[in-house]
Amino acid sequence: MYFLKEGSDSAEFKDNVFKYADMAAKDKSENKINATIGSLCDEDGQLVAFKSFFKIYDDLPDTIKAKYASAPKGNEGYLKAVKDFVLEDKITLPISINAASGGTGAITMAFKNIPDFGDSVLIPETAWGNYELMAKEYGLKTIKYDIYDLDDLIAKTKEAAQRQKRVMAVINSPCHNPCGLSLSKDDFHKLIEDFKAIPKPVIILNDIAYIDYSFDLDHNKDYLETFNDIDDKMMIIIAFSLSKTMTSYGLRCGAGIIITKDEKTNEAMANVFEKSSRALWSNINNAAMTAFEKVIKDHKEEFLKEKAQYIELLKKRSELFLSEAKTADLPLYPYDEGFFITLKVKDNETRDLIHERLLNDHIYAVPVNKGIRIAICSIPLEKIKGLAQRIKKAF
Ligand SMILES: Cc1ncc(COP(=O)(O)O)c(C=O)c1O
Repeated sequence: MYFLKEGSDSAEFKDNVFKYADMAAKDKSENKINATIGSLCDEDGQLVAFKSFFKIYDDLPDTIKAKYASAPKGNEGYLKAVKDFVLEDKITLPISINAASGGTGAITMAFKNIPDFGDSVLIPETAWGNYELMAKEYGLKTIKYDIYDLDDLIAKTKEAAQRQKRVMAVINSPCHNPCGLSLSKDDFHKLIEDFKAIPKPVIILNDIAYIDYSFDLDHNKDYLETFNDIDDKMMIIIAFSLSKTMTSYGLRCGAGIIITKDEKTNEAMANVFEKSSRALWSNINNAAMTAFEKVIKDHKEEFLKEKAQYIELLKKRSELFLSEAKTADLPLYPYDEGFFITLKVKDNETRDLIHERLLNDHIYAVPVNKGIRIAICSIPLEKIKGLAQRIKKAF
């Protein structure tokens, strides 16, 4: 089309999550299961909005809500709160933090600024669909790796390094969306050592959107310590999001955390990211940043207590679904923790057939590459009961 620059994709935007969530909302049948929604819902099926966060947010003066942030980089107090809350003093290397428009914004900054035009980015074979869209947006290709086989990721990173100046690999862990895998500290240690052996710069983009729903909050961040072992050819970008952590999806607040061995490189990266922020969204929601800062500084225990109840609920939901799935012999991707459990399907034709049968039985879930995602984060226990058996009938 002559109004658009070359390479623009004017095809209708199709997002499976929104499409099937919309279909589910229109279905009024009694036995409907809506397993599409990737947000935390309570046992009444209502969206959870943490009181410990929104009370602080609601009490902010209008002028704080109206105001621009103090800089495109983000408010100083917010950046410090992100550092304290996310990293917990585990990183000894230089760190810079830029506020971003949710986790999406942090990931965007990496996709926009790190790979050269035409480069390939490594993403999980079964993954959050937005990585692929972001790659396209910035003229990048993707290489899919098996998240259950680190050697596959390492081999594909090595291969890509032979063709391009640097390689970026997206690792969505802990609580991978959609499979629920969490890599261990040993896994990250191996990755870092093997990446260091590659004679080109390697960047790990660690998407931690769901980290705060790990079932083992005493150890879920231990793996961060392995980031201290990177060399000058490696960089870590952590994409942090308030969306799930604070149940504040619509406030569009998050951060990109840059970790490098060298201070100067770190500062240079932060400058690039700050300019991107200013050009893309100007600045981040001042009230969201202020509320986060206040919660982490003065109300952290209350917030952690409230969040813990929902982690318990996620545990109960996953245990029920997994035990019934075992009895029903339902094929699943190995699940550790998190918002989603994914049915394993050998190819996408079979997936579409099964998905169609599920829709006919009023079960709404999201098709993903070689799988169908079940959002246990939003299904009440009562509705999970018997679900695996119903799903099995569609296989
Ligand atoms: C894997 C993953 N990463 C990042 C995000 C980013 O979310 P937001 O931009 O709302 O922070 C999501 C949201 O669904 C996600 O599922």
